[in-house]
Amino acid sequence: MDTRWDGLLVNARLVTLAGDAGYGVIEDGALGWHDGMIVFAGHRTDLPAPPASLADERVDAQGEWVTPGLIDCHTHVVFGGDRAGEFEQRLQGASYEDIARSGGGIVSTVRATRAASEDDLFAQSLPRARALRDDGVTTLEIKSGYGLDFDNERKMLRVARRICDALGIRVRTTYLGAHALPPEFAGRADDYIDAVCRWLPALHAEGLVDAVDAFCERIGFTAAQTQRVFEAACALGIPVKLHADQLSDGGGAALLAGFAGLSADHVEYTSEAGAAALKQAGSVAVLLPGAFHVLRETKLPPLDAFRAHGVPMAVATDCNPGTSPLQSLRLAMSLACTHFRLTPEEALRGATVHAARALGLKDRGRLVVGQRADFVRWRIDQPAQLAYWLGGDLVSAVHVGGRVIVGA
Ligand code: NIG
Ligand code: FE
Repeated sequence: MDTRWDGLLVNARLVTLAGDAGYGVIEDGALGWHDGMIVFAGHRTDLPAPPASLADERVDAQGEWVTPGLIDCHTHVVFGGDRAGEFEQRLQGASYEDIARSGGGIVSTVRATRAASEDDLFAQSLPRARALRDDGVTTLEIKSGYGLDFDNERKMLRVARRICDALGIRVRTTYLGAHALPPEFAGRADDYIDAVCRWLPALHAEGLVDAVDAFCERIGFTAAQTQRVFEAACALGIPVKLHADQLSDGGGAALLAGFAGLSADHVEYTSEAGAAALKQAGSVAVLLPGAFHVLRETKLPPLDAFRAHGVPMAVATDCNPGTSPLQSLRLAMSLACTHFRLTPEEALRGATVHAARALGLKDRGRLVVGQRADFVRWRIDQPAQLAYWLGGDLVSAVHVGGRVIVGA
Protein backbone atom coordinates (compact mmCIF):
# COMPACT_ATOMS: atom_id res chain seq x y z
CA MET A 1 0.00 0.00 0.00
CA ASP A 2 1.32 3.47 -0.88
CA THR A 3 -0.64 5.28 1.79
CA ARG A 4 -1.31 3.97 5.22
CA TRP A 5 -4.62 4.97 6.77
CA ASP A 6 -4.72 7.20 9.84
CA GLY A 7 -6.80 4.71 11.78
CA LEU A 8 -8.66 1.43 11.71
CA LEU A 9 -11.39 0.11 13.99
CA VAL A 10 -11.86 -3.65 14.00
CA ASN A 11 -14.14 -6.14 15.71
CA ALA A 12 -17.09 -3.73 15.46
CA ARG A 13 -20.75 -4.27 14.71
CA LEU A 14 -21.35 -1.47 12.24
CA VAL A 15 -24.74 0.18 11.86
CA THR A 16 -23.98 1.75 8.49
CA LEU A 17 -27.46 3.01 7.55
CA ALA A 18 -26.34 2.53 3.96
CA GLY A 19 -29.34 2.17 1.67
CA ASP A 20 -32.82 3.60 2.16
CA ALA A 21 -34.04 1.30 4.91
CA GLY A 22 -32.76 -1.03 7.59
CA TYR A 23 -29.82 -0.60 9.92
CA GLY A 24 -27.36 -1.88 7.33
CA VAL A 25 -25.56 -4.00 9.92
CA ILE A 26 -22.10 -5.39 9.22
CA GLU A 27 -21.07 -7.95 11.84
CA ASP A 28 -17.35 -8.38 12.46
CA GLY A 29 -16.95 -5.04 10.73
CA ALA A 30 -13.98 -2.81 10.17
CA LEU A 31 -13.88 0.95 9.70
CA GLY A 32 -10.83 2.69 8.27
CA TRP A 33 -10.27 6.42 8.05
CA HIS A 34 -7.76 8.80 6.53
CA ASP A 35 -7.63 12.60 6.66
CA GLY A 36 -10.83 12.52 8.69
CA MET A 37 -12.82 10.61 6.07
CA ILE A 38 -14.02 7.00 5.96
CA VAL A 39 -11.90 5.01 3.51
CA PHE A 40 -13.19 1.55 4.42
CA ALA A 41 -16.46 0.36 5.95
CA GLY A 42 -17.06 -3.34 5.55
CA HIS A 43 -16.46 -6.85 6.73
CA ARG A 44 -13.06 -7.62 8.26
CA THR A 45 -12.41 -10.29 5.69
CA ASP A 46 -12.78 -7.71 2.91
CA LEU A 47 -9.94 -5.55 4.23
CA PRO A 48 -7.33 -5.13 1.47
CA ALA A 49 -4.43 -6.21 3.74
CA PRO A 50 -3.82 -7.36 7.32
CA PRO A 51 -4.77 -4.60 9.82
CA ALA A 52 -1.19 -4.07 11.00
CA SER A 53 -0.08 -3.09 7.52
CA LEU A 54 -3.05 -0.76 6.98
CA ALA A 55 -2.81 1.68 9.89
CA ASP A 56 -0.67 2.50 12.91
CA GLU A 57 -3.63 3.43 15.07
CA ARG A 58 -5.72 0.31 15.44
CA VAL A 59 -8.66 0.09 17.82
CA ASP A 60 -10.32 -3.14 18.89
CA ALA A 61 -14.01 -2.31 19.43
CA GLN A 62 -14.45 -5.63 21.25
CA GLY A 63 -17.75 -6.33 19.55
CA GLU A 64 -19.31 -2.97 20.39
CA TRP A 65 -22.03 -1.48 18.22
CA VAL A 66 -20.88 1.51 16.16
CA THR A 67 -23.21 4.05 14.57
CA PRO A 68 -22.68 7.26 12.65
CA GLY A 69 -22.24 10.24 14.98
CA LEU A 70 -25.62 11.65 15.96
CA ILE A 71 -26.64 14.96 14.37
CA ASP A 72 -28.84 17.32 16.37
CA CYS A 73 -30.31 19.45 13.59
CA HIS A 74 -32.46 21.84 15.67
CA THR A 75 -31.31 23.38 18.95
CA HIS A 76 -31.30 26.63 20.86
CA VAL A 77 -28.62 25.59 23.38
CA VAL A 78 -27.11 29.07 23.61
CA PHE A 79 -29.22 31.16 26.00
CA GLY A 80 -29.03 32.96 29.32
CA GLY A 81 -30.98 31.97 32.44
CA ASP A 82 -33.73 29.36 32.53
CA ARG A 83 -37.53 29.24 32.61
CA ALA A 84 -38.26 26.72 35.32
CA GLY A 85 -40.78 29.22 36.73
CA GLU A 86 -42.81 29.00 33.52
CA PHE A 87 -42.72 25.23 33.75
CA GLU A 88 -44.41 25.59 37.15
CA GLN A 89 -46.92 28.11 35.75
CA ARG A 90 -47.87 25.73 32.95
CA LEU A 91 -48.37 22.93 35.44
CA GLN A 92 -50.87 25.26 37.15
CA GLY A 93 -52.78 25.58 33.86
CA ALA A 94 -51.23 28.55 32.01
CA SER A 95 -50.56 27.87 28.33
CA TYR A 96 -47.33 28.58 26.44
CA GLU A 97 -49.17 31.20 24.38
CA ASP A 98 -50.69 32.86 27.50
CA ILE A 99 -47.24 33.20 29.03
CA ALA A 100 -45.76 34.59 25.82
CA ARG A 101 -48.54 37.17 25.48
CA SER A 102 -48.04 38.37 29.06
CA GLY A 103 -44.37 39.25 28.52
CA GLY A 104 -42.79 35.92 29.44
CA GLY A 105 -41.70 33.17 27.11
CA ILE A 106 -39.01 33.83 24.53
CA VAL A 107 -38.75 37.50 25.49
CA SER A 108 -37.81 36.65 29.07
CA THR A 109 -34.89 34.58 27.76
CA VAL A 110 -33.99 37.55 25.55
CA ARG A 111 -33.57 39.67 28.69
CA ALA A 112 -31.27 37.12 30.32
CA THR A 113 -29.30 36.54 27.11
CA ARG A 114 -28.77 40.25 26.51
CA ALA A 115 -27.62 40.71 30.10
CA ALA A 116 -24.93 38.03 29.79
CA SER A 117 -21.45 38.88 28.52
CA GLU A 118 -20.09 36.73 25.71
CA ASP A 119 -17.95 34.77 28.17
CA ASP A 120 -20.82 34.37 30.59
CA LEU A 121 -23.11 33.12 27.82
CA PHE A 122 -20.40 30.68 26.77
CA ALA A 123 -20.05 29.39 30.33
CA GLN A 124 -23.82 29.03 30.78
CA SER A 125 -24.34 27.23 27.46
CA LEU A 126 -21.31 24.95 27.32
CA PRO A 127 -22.61 22.25 29.72
CA ARG A 128 -25.74 21.72 27.62
CA ALA A 129 -23.75 21.20 24.45
CA ARG A 130 -21.36 18.96 26.35
CA ALA A 131 -24.26 16.82 27.57
CA LEU A 132 -25.45 16.39 23.98
CA ARG A 133 -21.94 15.48 22.82
CA ASP A 134 -21.38 13.05 25.66
CA ASP A 135 -24.54 11.25 24.59
CA GLY A 136 -23.32 10.85 21.01
CA VAL A 137 -23.80 14.11 19.11
CA THR A 138 -20.97 14.96 16.70
CA THR A 139 -22.71 17.69 14.66
CA LEU A 140 -24.76 20.32 16.46
CA GLU A 141 -26.99 22.96 14.92
CA ILE A 142 -27.41 26.02 17.11
CA LYS A 143 -29.80 28.90 16.47
CA SER A 144 -29.64 32.52 17.51
CA GLY A 145 -32.97 34.16 18.33
CA TYR A 146 -32.61 35.29 21.95
CA GLY A 147 -30.57 38.40 21.12
CA LEU A 148 -32.99 40.10 18.72
CA ASP A 149 -30.65 42.99 18.03
CA PHE A 150 -27.54 42.98 15.88
CA ASP A 151 -24.94 42.81 18.65
CA ASN A 152 -26.72 40.18 20.70
CA GLU A 153 -27.59 37.95 17.75
CA ARG A 154 -23.93 38.17 16.75
CA LYS A 155 -22.86 37.37 20.30
CA MET A 156 -25.04 34.23 20.31
CA LEU A 157 -23.73 33.00 16.96
CA ARG A 158 -20.13 33.58 18.02
CA VAL A 159 -20.71 31.71 21.27
CA ALA A 160 -22.29 28.82 19.32
CA ARG A 161 -19.13 28.49 17.26
CA ARG A 162 -16.83 28.79 20.26
CA ILE A 163 -18.71 26.09 22.15
CA CYS A 164 -18.40 23.52 19.41
CA ASP A 165 -14.72 24.36 18.89
CA ALA A 166 -14.15 23.86 22.59
CA LEU A 167 -15.95 20.50 22.56
CA GLY A 168 -14.34 19.18 19.37
CA ILE A 169 -17.65 18.74 17.55
CA ARG A 170 -18.95 20.21 14.29
CA VAL A 171 -21.29 23.17 14.33
CA ARG A 172 -23.91 24.67 12.03
CA THR A 173 -25.23 28.07 13.03
CA THR A 174 -28.68 29.31 12.08
CA TYR A 175 -29.79 32.94 12.24
CA LEU A 176 -33.21 33.12 13.90
CA GLY A 177 -33.60 36.90 14.20
CA ALA A 178 -37.30 36.44 13.41
CA HIS A 179 -37.98 34.43 16.59
CA ALA A 180 -40.00 36.98 18.56
CA LEU A 181 -40.69 40.71 18.60
CA PRO A 182 -38.31 42.49 20.99
CA PRO A 183 -39.92 45.08 23.30
CA GLU A 184 -38.26 48.06 21.61
CA PHE A 185 -40.20 47.19 18.43
CA ALA A 186 -43.58 46.69 20.15
CA GLY A 187 -46.37 47.33 17.64
CA ARG A 188 -43.84 47.57 14.79
CA ALA A 189 -43.33 44.01 13.64
CA ASP A 190 -42.79 45.01 10.02
CA ASP A 191 -40.07 47.45 11.01
CA TYR A 192 -38.43 44.70 13.05
CA ILE A 193 -38.47 42.37 10.04
CA ASP A 194 -36.76 45.14 8.05
CA ALA A 195 -34.05 45.19 10.72
CA VAL A 196 -33.70 41.38 10.76
CA CYS A 197 -33.14 41.48 7.00
CA ARG A 198 -30.72 44.41 7.30
CA TRP A 199 -28.52 42.63 9.88
CA LEU A 200 -28.21 39.45 7.84
CA PRO A 201 -25.53 40.44 5.28
CA ALA A 202 -23.01 41.50 7.93
CA LEU A 203 -23.58 38.39 10.05
CA HIS A 204 -23.24 36.26 6.95
CA ALA A 205 -20.08 38.08 5.85
CA GLU A 206 -18.57 37.23 9.22
CA GLY A 207 -19.17 33.54 8.48
CA LEU A 208 -21.75 33.19 11.24
CA VAL A 209 -24.78 32.09 9.22
CA ASP A 210 -25.18 28.64 7.65
CA ALA A 211 -28.98 28.90 7.42
CA VAL A 212 -31.84 31.28 8.19
CA ASP A 213 -34.88 30.32 10.27
CA ALA A 214 -38.06 32.08 11.46
CA PHE A 215 -40.97 31.42 13.83
CA CYS A 216 -44.11 31.57 11.67
CA GLU A 217 -46.95 31.45 14.19
CA ARG A 218 -49.71 33.50 15.85
CA ILE A 219 -47.24 34.47 18.59
CA GLY A 220 -44.37 34.76 16.10
CA PHE A 221 -44.42 36.27 12.62
CA THR A 222 -46.90 36.15 9.76
CA ALA A 223 -46.39 34.26 6.53
CA ALA A 224 -45.81 37.55 4.70
CA GLN A 225 -43.14 38.60 7.23
CA THR A 226 -41.51 35.17 7.07
CA GLN A 227 -41.45 35.43 3.31
CA ARG A 228 -39.53 38.69 3.48
CA VAL A 229 -36.89 37.09 5.71
CA PHE A 230 -36.62 34.16 3.30
CA GLU A 231 -36.22 36.51 0.34
CA ALA A 232 -33.34 38.25 2.10
CA ALA A 233 -31.71 34.86 2.75
CA CYS A 234 -32.19 33.69 -0.82
CA ALA A 235 -30.67 36.90 -2.15
CA LEU A 236 -27.47 35.89 -0.35
CA GLY A 237 -27.75 32.22 -1.34
CA ILE A 238 -28.38 31.10 2.25
CA PRO A 239 -30.70 28.10 2.73
CA VAL A 240 -33.82 28.48 4.87
CA LYS A 241 -35.59 26.46 7.57
CA LEU A 242 -38.80 27.20 9.45
CA HIS A 243 -40.50 26.75 12.82
CA ALA A 244 -43.68 25.74 11.00
CA ASP A 245 -47.20 24.87 12.11
CA GLN A 246 -46.25 24.20 15.74
CA LEU A 247 -49.34 25.60 17.49
CA SER A 248 -51.64 26.20 14.51
CA ASP A 249 -51.71 25.54 10.77
CA GLY A 250 -50.26 28.71 9.34
CA GLY A 251 -49.34 27.11 6.03
CA GLY A 252 -45.71 27.13 7.17
CA ALA A 253 -44.67 23.88 5.54
CA ALA A 254 -45.96 24.97 2.12
CA LEU A 255 -44.31 28.38 2.53
CA LEU A 256 -40.98 26.70 3.32
CA ALA A 257 -41.39 24.35 0.39
CA GLY A 258 -41.99 27.32 -1.90
CA PHE A 259 -38.42 28.37 -1.15
CA ALA A 260 -37.09 24.81 -1.56
CA GLY A 261 -36.08 25.12 2.10
CA LEU A 262 -34.03 22.57 3.98
CA SER A 263 -36.61 21.70 6.62
CA ALA A 264 -39.95 22.48 8.19
CA ASP A 265 -39.67 21.91 11.93
CA HIS A 266 -42.33 20.99 14.58
CA VAL A 267 -45.06 20.51 11.91
CA GLU A 268 -47.73 19.22 14.33
CA TYR A 269 -50.47 21.18 12.51
CA THR A 270 -49.12 20.69 8.98
CA SER A 271 -51.84 19.63 6.53
CA GLU A 272 -51.76 16.82 4.01
CA ALA A 273 -51.17 19.43 1.30
CA GLY A 274 -48.25 20.76 3.35
CA ALA A 275 -46.75 17.27 3.51
CA ALA A 276 -47.12 16.89 -0.25
CA ALA A 277 -45.43 20.26 -0.78
CA LEU A 278 -42.47 19.19 1.39
CA LYS A 279 -42.04 16.07 -0.70
CA GLN A 280 -42.22 18.03 -3.92
CA ALA A 281 -39.54 20.45 -2.70
CA GLY A 282 -37.26 17.75 -1.28
CA SER A 283 -37.52 19.31 2.20
CA VAL A 284 -37.24 17.40 5.48
CA ALA A 285 -39.86 17.36 8.25
CA VAL A 286 -38.05 17.78 11.56
CA LEU A 287 -39.95 16.19 14.45
CA LEU A 288 -39.38 17.78 17.85
CA PRO A 289 -41.01 15.44 20.36
CA GLY A 290 -39.41 17.19 23.33
CA ALA A 291 -41.52 20.32 22.76
CA PHE A 292 -44.59 18.17 22.09
CA HIS A 293 -43.98 16.34 25.35
CA VAL A 294 -43.19 19.33 27.56
CA LEU A 295 -46.16 21.38 26.25
CA ARG A 296 -48.37 18.32 26.71
CA GLU A 297 -49.54 18.68 23.11
CA THR A 298 -52.06 16.23 21.73
CA LYS A 299 -52.07 17.13 18.02
CA LEU A 300 -49.74 14.68 16.30
CA PRO A 301 -47.76 15.67 13.20
CA PRO A 302 -49.28 14.15 10.01
CA LEU A 303 -47.06 11.08 10.25
CA ASP A 304 -49.13 8.94 7.89
CA ALA A 305 -49.03 11.68 5.26
CA PHE A 306 -45.28 12.08 5.68
CA ARG A 307 -44.86 8.33 5.24
CA ALA A 308 -47.30 8.12 2.33
CA HIS A 309 -45.54 10.94 0.50
CA GLY A 310 -42.08 9.72 1.47
CA VAL A 311 -41.09 12.92 3.32
CA PRO A 312 -37.84 12.25 5.23
CA MET A 313 -38.42 12.69 8.96
CA ALA A 314 -35.57 13.96 11.14
CA VAL A 315 -35.60 13.97 14.95
CA ALA A 316 -33.97 16.71 17.05
CA THR A 317 -33.93 17.90 20.65
CA ASP A 318 -35.04 21.54 20.09
CA CYS A 319 -33.05 22.04 23.32
CA ASN A 320 -34.33 25.40 24.61
CA PRO A 321 -35.35 26.92 27.95
CA GLY A 322 -39.06 27.23 27.16
CA THR A 323 -40.56 24.30 25.35
CA SER A 324 -37.87 21.64 25.41
CA PRO A 325 -35.18 21.66 28.10
CA LEU A 326 -33.95 18.39 26.66
CA GLN A 327 -30.23 17.60 26.70
CA SER A 328 -30.13 14.15 25.09
CA LEU A 329 -30.78 13.39 21.43
CA ARG A 330 -31.26 9.74 22.35
CA LEU A 331 -34.06 10.80 24.66
CA ALA A 332 -35.60 12.77 21.77
CA MET A 333 -35.40 9.56 19.72
CA SER A 334 -37.15 7.69 22.50
CA LEU A 335 -39.90 10.33 22.72
CA ALA A 336 -40.30 10.18 18.92
CA CYS A 337 -40.94 6.45 19.23
CA THR A 338 -43.33 6.72 22.14
CA HIS A 339 -45.31 9.79 21.07
CA PHE A 340 -45.05 9.59 17.28
CA ARG A 341 -44.70 5.82 16.87
CA LEU A 342 -41.46 5.98 14.92
CA THR A 343 -39.62 2.71 14.93
CA PRO A 344 -36.24 2.80 16.71
CA GLU A 345 -34.64 2.45 13.30
CA GLU A 346 -36.59 5.43 11.92
CA ALA A 347 -35.59 7.42 15.00
CA LEU A 348 -31.89 6.62 14.47
CA ARG A 349 -32.14 7.45 10.77
CA GLY A 350 -33.91 10.66 11.82
CA ALA A 351 -31.00 11.63 14.06
CA THR A 352 -28.35 10.81 11.45
CA VAL A 353 -29.17 10.48 7.73
CA HIS A 354 -32.23 12.74 7.66
CA ALA A 355 -30.79 15.21 10.18
CA ALA A 356 -27.79 15.69 7.88
CA ARG A 357 -30.15 16.42 5.03
CA ALA A 358 -32.10 18.89 7.19
CA LEU A 359 -28.82 20.80 7.49
CA GLY A 360 -27.99 20.51 3.79
CA LEU A 361 -25.00 18.24 4.55
CA LYS A 362 -24.16 15.36 2.24
CA ASP A 363 -20.91 14.30 3.88
CA ARG A 364 -22.18 12.68 7.06
CA GLY A 365 -24.95 10.56 8.56
CA ARG A 366 -23.88 7.11 7.36
CA LEU A 367 -20.89 4.84 7.81
CA VAL A 368 -19.89 4.55 4.17
CA VAL A 369 -16.74 5.36 2.22
CA GLY A 370 -16.45 9.06 1.45
CA GLN A 371 -18.35 10.27 4.52
CA ARG A 372 -16.68 11.96 7.47
CA ALA A 373 -15.29 9.57 10.05
CA ASP A 374 -17.69 10.74 12.77
CA PHE A 375 -18.92 7.75 14.73
CA VAL A 376 -19.96 6.52 18.16
CA ARG A 377 -19.16 3.26 19.92
CA TRP A 378 -22.01 2.19 22.19
CA ARG A 379 -22.40 -0.14 25.15
CA ILE A 380 -25.61 -1.75 23.91
CA ASP A 381 -26.72 -5.23 22.88
CA GLN A 382 -28.85 -4.21 19.92
CA PRO A 383 -29.43 -0.94 18.01
CA ALA A 384 -33.02 -0.54 19.26
CA GLN A 385 -31.59 0.09 22.73
CA LEU A 386 -30.45 3.55 21.64
CA ALA A 387 -34.08 4.69 21.69
CA TYR A 388 -35.21 2.21 24.33
CA TRP A 389 -33.21 3.47 27.29
CA LEU A 390 -34.46 6.75 28.73
CA GLY A 391 -31.10 8.22 29.67
CA GLY A 392 -28.27 6.07 30.91
CA ASP A 393 -24.58 6.16 30.10
CA LEU A 394 -24.37 4.18 26.86
CA VAL A 395 -21.48 5.89 25.11
CA SER A 396 -18.22 4.04 25.03
CA ALA A 397 -16.44 6.54 22.76
CA VAL A 398 -17.19 9.39 20.38
CA HIS A 399 -14.94 9.92 17.35
CA VAL A 400 -14.90 13.02 15.17
CA GLY A 401 -12.89 12.76 11.97
CA GLY A 402 -11.56 9.52 13.44
CA ARG A 403 -10.15 11.28 16.49
CA VAL A 404 -11.48 10.24 19.91
CA ILE A 405 -13.12 13.19 21.65
CA VAL A 406 -15.02 11.33 24.37
CA GLY A 407 -14.14 8.06 26.09
CA ALA A 408 -11.31 5.63 25.59
O1 NIG B 1 -38.68 25.62 18.97
N1 NIG B 1 -41.35 27.85 19.06
C1 NIG B 1 -40.44 28.64 19.02
N2 NIG B 1 -39.19 28.46 19.45
C2 NIG B 1 -38.78 27.46 20.36
C3 NIG B 1 -39.14 27.79 21.75
C4 NIG B 1 -38.34 28.91 22.22
C5 NIG B 1 -38.65 29.30 23.63
O2 NIG B 1 -39.76 29.13 24.14
O3 NIG B 1 -37.71 29.85 24.22
C6 NIG B 1 -39.25 26.10 19.93
O4 NIG B 1 -40.15 25.48 20.52
FE1 FE C 1 -37.02 25.51 18.03
